[in-house]
Amino acid sequence: MAGIPHDHYEPKTDGQKWLNKRLPIAGLLYDTLFIPTPKNLNWMWIWGIVLVFTLVLQIATGLFLAMHYVADTELAFSRIEHIMRNVNGGAMIRYVHMNGASLFFVAVYMHIFRGLYYGSYKAPREVTWIIGVLMFVLMMGAGFMGYVLPWGQMSFHGTAVITGLFGAIPFVGEAIQTWLLGASAVGQPALNRFFALHYLLPFILLGITMVHVWAFHTTGNNNPTGVEVRRTSKEDAAKDTLPFWPYFVIKDLLALVVILIVFTAVVGFMPNYLGHPDNYIPANPAATPAHIVPEWYFLPFYAILRAFTADVWLVMLVDWVTFGIVDAKFFGVVAMFGAIAVMALAPWLDTSSVRSGRYRPMFKWWFALLVIDFIVLMWVGARPAEGIYPYISLIGAAYWFAYFLVVLPLLGVIEKPLAQPATIEEDFAAHYPKSTGTPAE
Ligand code: HEM
Repeated sequence: MAGIPHDHYEPKTDGQKWLNKRLPIAGLLYDTLFIPTPKNLNWMWIWGIVLVFTLVLQIATGLFLAMHYVADTELAFSRIEHIMRNVNGGAMIRYVHMNGASLFFVAVYMHIFRGLYYGSYKAPREVTWIIGVLMFVLMMGAGFMGYVLPWGQMSFHGTAVITGLFGAIPFVGEAIQTWLLGASAVGQPALNRFFALHYLLPFILLGITMVHVWAFHTTGNNNPTGVEVRRTSKEDAAKDTLPFWPYFVIKDLLALVVILIVFTAVVGFMPNYLGHPDNYIPANPAATPAHIVPEWYFLPFYAILRAFTADVWLVMLVDWVTFGIVDAKFFGVVAMFGAIAVMALAPWLDTSSVRSGRYRPMFKWWFALLVIDFIVLMWVGARPAEGIYPYISLIGAAYWFAYFLVVLPLLGVIEKPLAQPATIEEDFAAHYPKSTGTPAE
């Protein structure tokens, strides 16, 4: 697909021409800043910028924390207390970083579900989507390793549980687990490497963000109608779009200000609300907490991990067929990673010819169910694995997979989509009848 036709940077002065021949950076910045953007984008398109902002915020606050932190199992816990009590602004920096992780995941889940509803994963944006899934996995890795650093009870025992999962891999599991921890159990080598990787991952994420942006700048943004910007001429394209600067930058900044007001209130008034009190107890290998609960943003996937217990018939069947190689524990691990991997396949599993959920009457309901399913999984992930909870997890996990593997492929065949607007201009005019639809001079 050809890019959206638009004006490009023209060097005017001799100096500009000289630089442009050697390093066309002004042209690159021009094309990035003034990129034609569908003018009907709604508020769900702000989350990408919120993600970029939060990533930078995490790097900035993390840098200051790292100046005072010491990755030593004897010192880590008290160094965090030292940051909170003695370092100037330390408590604020730590609370911003701690809750910044939550903001990051709020934004990424909104961003992902936006993509799922408006079909942003569909051709030609598959690469943007897959890069996104990779970023999500790296975010989870960074979040997990960050939680280990305060060396509290949850840090320690959470690490033992999660790295123990790798031990469930048949034949090589134990070797992998030892390799990950740098020892046979959670201890100093693990803390050292998790700190090193926790410091590194955000920079890798920053690099991949650029590739992500490059990918959707190549295809152009999707929009709430899912109808593509006209490529027939520069004039037609201009009727469907507005330049990113100033229109979307100002809109994104407004959204960011509102989000930051809420964020500041959380950091200021309830900084520990999303945390677990056990992590204010120094790590003690000899005392395992009654319930090991991961951070809220891991809970849906944690619920899927625990959903497949040994008494589920599918697990029994697989266990029997594989002569016990794939037991319940390993099944759970595969399910948890599979729940993320299946998202990456969405571009090929969704067979509908219509991109946006707005014009898909049946899809809307199944999608709403997916959102509810995700919230239920998050809730049940924090419950103990007893009584009715494992059944709820199992139903939730089954629907998660069914949505991608059954609902998406089938709906494309049986659903009768509604009429879509012919152009973005038409959609915009219908929503804003008073607007001329052209940029102010
Ligand atoms: C650190 C993580 C991420 C950052 C910084 C980031 C950044 C961005 C930005 C700035 C945009 C353009 C604005 C917008 O559409 O909101 C965007 C678009 C997009 N992102 Fe992400 N993203 C991240 C993670 C993800 C994830 C996890 C996915 C999917 C699994 C994803 C899929 C997409 C798609 C498909 C688009 C194109 C949307 C469209 O044009 O409609 N991104 N991303």
